[in-house]
Amino acid sequence: MTALRSDEWYAGQDRNSYMHRAWMRRGTPNSSFQGRPQIALANTASDLTPCNSHLNEVAEHVKQGVWEAGGVPLNLPVVSLGETQVRPTAMLWRNMAAMAIEEMLRANPIDGVVLLGGCDKTIPSLLMAAASVDLPAVVVPGGPMLTGTFRGTPLGCGTDVWRLSEEVRAGTLTEGAFMDSESSMIRSRGHCNTMGTASTMGLLAESLGTTMPGIAGIPAADSRLLARAHETGRLVVDMVAADRRPSSMLTAGSFHNAIVALAAIGGSTNAVVHLLAIAGRVGVPLTLDDFDRIAAEVPLLVDLQPAGRYLMEDLYRAGGLAAVLREVVDLLDHDAITATGEPLVKSLTDAQVWDREVIRPREAPLQPNAGIALLRGNLAPNGAIIKPAAASPHLLRHRGRAVVFDSIEDFHARIDDPDLDVDADSVLVLRGCGPRGYPGMPEVSNMPLPAKLLQQGVRDMVRICDGRMSGTAYGTVVLHVAPEAAAGGPLDRVRTGDWIVLDVPGRSLDVEITAEELAARPPSEAMSAALARPRRGWEKLYVETVLGADTGADCDFLVGSSGDKVSRESH
Ligand code: FES
Repeated sequence: MTALRSDEWYAGQDRNSYMHRAWMRRGTPNSSFQGRPQIALANTASDLTPCNSHLNEVAEHVKQGVWEAGGVPLNLPVVSLGETQVRPTAMLWRNMAAMAIEEMLRANPIDGVVLLGGCDKTIPSLLMAAASVDLPAVVVPGGPMLTGTFRGTPLGCGTDVWRLSEEVRAGTLTEGAFMDSESSMIRSRGHCNTMGTASTMGLLAESLGTTMPGIAGIPAADSRLLARAHETGRLVVDMVAADRRPSSMLTAGSFHNAIVALAAIGGSTNAVVHLLAIAGRVGVPLTLDDFDRIAAEVPLLVDLQPAGRYLMEDLYRAGGLAAVLREVVDLLDHDAITATGEPLVKSLTDAQVWDREVIRPREAPLQPNAGIALLRGNLAPNGAIIKPAAASPHLLRHRGRAVVFDSIEDFHARIDDPDLDVDADSVLVLRGCGPRGYPGMPEVSNMPLPAKLLQQGVRDMVRICDGRMSGTAYGTVVLHVAPEAAAGGPLDRVRTGDWIVLDVPGRSLDVEITAEELAARPPSEAMSAALARPRRGWEKLYVETVLGADTGADCDFLVGSSGDKVSRESH
């Protein structure tokens, strides 16, 4: 057997190896060190990340599998980001979490790692870290919560918050009823149960090949998750023996498969920035164009909120991710492997669909082309994206007058003003919300509609923003506009009253003014005045180094891999 990385700490009779072993004994025998794979459980369990709070129990089952296979499991609590709790936005901390996790994996005597995540940013940050340190790594997705109901109707976690709050603003639901729904929203442990970012990233972790096949999408409260966690503990020990690292699993083919899956499941637009960032860590040259190109032929097969009707518990009951991918197996890369070392497509052989309402057949999809559309034009030279499946078909080609907001505070202050000059054909533009501008690229792009238009029955309008949109949201929303306004993108020179033309089938987004006039206009002073100017800490470092959404919004000094080598000893 080849020497383990951890043997550099534990093998030998000298003072340093004595110290490394002695402090780690905690009742473990001599046989727990040299030659035994040391497996970290990078665990994002936290009471402040309620979607992940059950992961300590899941970790206990992973540990049993690790012990059983001859490894030594070691709990490693890592930075955890609760999407609904963290201010100003969890995305500001994704790269920081990834950096901290990467450095703790590199610094410690470990040979492999199990990545336990669930809530939106936790699986992306874990995968970015694992890709950069490039130790054998496998994800255990925490799984979605069970379906809650309110007044006899299933509640889509997140999506129905938007819907119900709009109903209150439209005057069709009382505030009392809205408050009553709150206690029904979160039925059980687990992450949001719509096809939001957490569900998407769990399913994409499996599509990328970074999980044990068949684990993603198992509801958090389902005992089968614990059984798969146990098996994952065994698997990671095998991965160490086989030296199966992220760099051998995260290939162009595996990103291709993730993009096919993203389209077929109708996944969150946030997956675009996360996949780009993960690809950047392993040196796979993924671009926005790849999302549009690869997904162009992929039909939307999964009828889940926010694009459809059902919820994650239904998807698992209907056959899960494997059944979805089997429908589009001809579109997948057949060489891309999973954590098992076998091709992803091999794990799909026995998959079956048990409910054709939830997982549609290839010949009768919910939509024939479901991917993320890439738009370019004089408003977005580096690109902007839209999720057509969540948009209104009649707005996919639209020309309207811009109503511009210079910050989210400006938006909140004016959107419900009865005197705001806006109608159903207007285009709402919000800027200063990109990675650098906000900072952290918050999920504000799905701007609530003006109350006076809601009361007239308007339920969707074209909205344009350099920020992100919650994966649980819906609407004709153009987002991730790049370059962002705060980085000098042309969005900062649009004025209220400009005519904006959106053409999703034609893949364009333009403002109807000449290039000369656009270039001659001064940037918005109001937006500039509203930008945060952090003076210290992570926020300052982030603003100075964050890259555009079109490349994944990673920090420039975190792109790429450092590997697992540490040349100096501590004593
Ligand atoms: Fe954690 Fe939605 S808030 S997954």
